[in-house]
Amino acid sequence: MSRPIVVDSVASLRTQVRGWRREGLRVAMVPTMGALHDGHLSLVRIALESADRCVVSIFVNPTQFAPTEDLDKYPRRLARDLDQLATAKADLAFTPTVGEMYPAGFATRISVGGPSAGLESDFRPSFFDGVATVVAKLFLQATPDCAVFGEKDYQQLCVVRQLCRDLDLPVEIIGAPTIRDAYGLAMSSRNAYLGAAELGIARQLNVILRKAALALAAGSDRIDAINEANRSLITAGFQKVDYVEARETQTLAPWRQDRPGRLLAAAWLGNTRLIDNVEIPSA
Ligand code: PAJ
Repeated sequence: MSRPIVVDSVASLRTQVRGWRREGLRVAMVPTMGALHDGHLSLVRIALESADRCVVSIFVNPTQFAPTEDLDKYPRRLARDLDQLATAKADLAFTPTVGEMYPAGFATRISVGGPSAGLESDFRPSFFDGVATVVAKLFLQATPDCAVFGEKDYQQLCVVRQLCRDLDLPVEIIGAPTIRDAYGLAMSSRNAYLGAAELGIARQLNVILRKAALALAAGSDRIDAINEANRSLITAGFQKVDYVEARETQTLAPWRQDRPGRLLAAAWLGNTRLIDNVEIPSA
């Protein structure tokens, strides 16, 4: 089992990718914040189906965390991550420090409009600026031909597509299906925060969303179906629901019955905030 090359400077990353380019190889990128799980590893697999080499970045990006959020306690498990990347056959792990990504005097922020409006932005106002800025930097550093993002973070996927379109970043964005546990809970690095009882409640999130999506597809009133989902989440044991919303698949504009749709939600279990989304099946 060959281990991925590990580099922590932009210069070394560029040298390595330039070498692959010279050989005519196609390069894919999978940006992550580490604490890798099967969801991340599925992205590496998909990346290697459409490229010859796969770069995985592991960087807990401070600019996408609000001061009140979990930046300090976000799980960091580099040694284990590198073992998993070896198994998944990733070629290179880019593990920059905060100083490498944001040297003293760094003063630029990319703000994407369109699909970033509402949903996560209502609760994490500068989150997508942080994501767009770091993803643009990673793309300019690694210059991948394609990059894989999970549908688990559906709004993020839409924002990254918009970013590439608007800034003419020549990176093909590939969306990958959400990997779930046997109970349908979307895998997430933040699931590590959950105790056994909370895990049981967390597993209701996808069940409740799928039920509401089916009701919407069957023609239920949008407000009624969403109110019912909100109530069910609280009954299941979630303390607070940030949102349950039906949006159009591509633009994330409010969903209309005759359009392809997605039902997206965020809810709190203790101090842990979980997000998930499901397709609204076509009627
Ligand atoms: P992170 O939460 O580590 O996720 C990295 C990638 O893995 C994202 O594209 C995310 O959608 C995908 N992913 C997470 N859980 C998944 C699952 N259960 N199934 C499929 N894919 C899954 O998202 C980020 O990091 C950051 O915002 C980042 C894009 C790296 C920018 O800092």
